[in-house]
Amino acid sequence: MAADVTIRQATPADADAIGEIYDEAIATGIATFASGTHGPAERRAWLAARPDTAPVFVGEDPADGAIAWSALAPYSHRDWYSGVAEYTVYVRTEARARGIGAQMLSHLIGIAPDHGYWKLVGMILPENTAGLRLAEQAGFRVVGTHEAHGRIDGRWRNVTLVERHLGAGEGGSA
Ligand SMILES: CC(C)(COP(=O)(O)OP(=O)(O)OC[C@H]1O[C@@H](n2cnc3c(N)ncnc32)[C@H](O)[C@@H]1OP(=O)(O)O)[C@@H](O)C(=O)NCCC(=O)NCCS
Repeated sequence: MAADVTIRQATPADADAIGEIYDEAIATGIATFASGTHGPAERRAWLAARPDTAPVFVGEDPADGAIAWSALAPYSHRDWYSGVAEYTVYVRTEARARGIGAQMLSHLIGIAPDHGYWKLVGMILPENTAGLRLAEQAGFRVVGTHEAHGRIDGRWRNVTLVERHLGAGEGGSA
């Protein structure tokens, strides 16, 4: 089924929906290293603290409101990696497998250069088949898998790194 969301920059009024969608994903144990729950106040503070290089977007459905969110964040504090961003995409559980994740990621790929980025990377747990497929269908390549890169509930987990160059430089160094 085709996606049908309007994508726009997140506002403080989206904090509730963003937190709910985030907490659903955290509960799966395969989407993120984040833990705990994220209520509206915490998410509002999180949104307010983000610089221009770390934009957050929501995908809005005409009937159900904000059903997805996405974000970019600098990959490193080092100047020479300033053009590399890590992406995240989260879709409400009942709205998944309808093309919305693909629409959100395609939007990030389109706007990332406006924020100074030349490459997107994603960090995806190997068990997250939907996350990996989402990246692959958007033209990301699997770089490799970091072993024991972080812990969820005290258990070491691997993370697969994916990347997509957004323009000049694609295909590697000369
Ligand atoms: C990953 C996620 C964003 C995908 O969103 P979605 O709206 O369900 O994805 P789409 O419907 O756009 O599908 C994108 C691709 O993934 C595939 N896919 C979707 N769900 C899948 C699943 N459970 N298993 C395998 N493939 C799946 C689709 O078939 C599609 O591939 P195709 O074009 O080859 O058919 C969603 O599952 C989610 O929010 N997960 C929790 C957060 C997360 O893990 N984010 C990824 C890391 S940032």
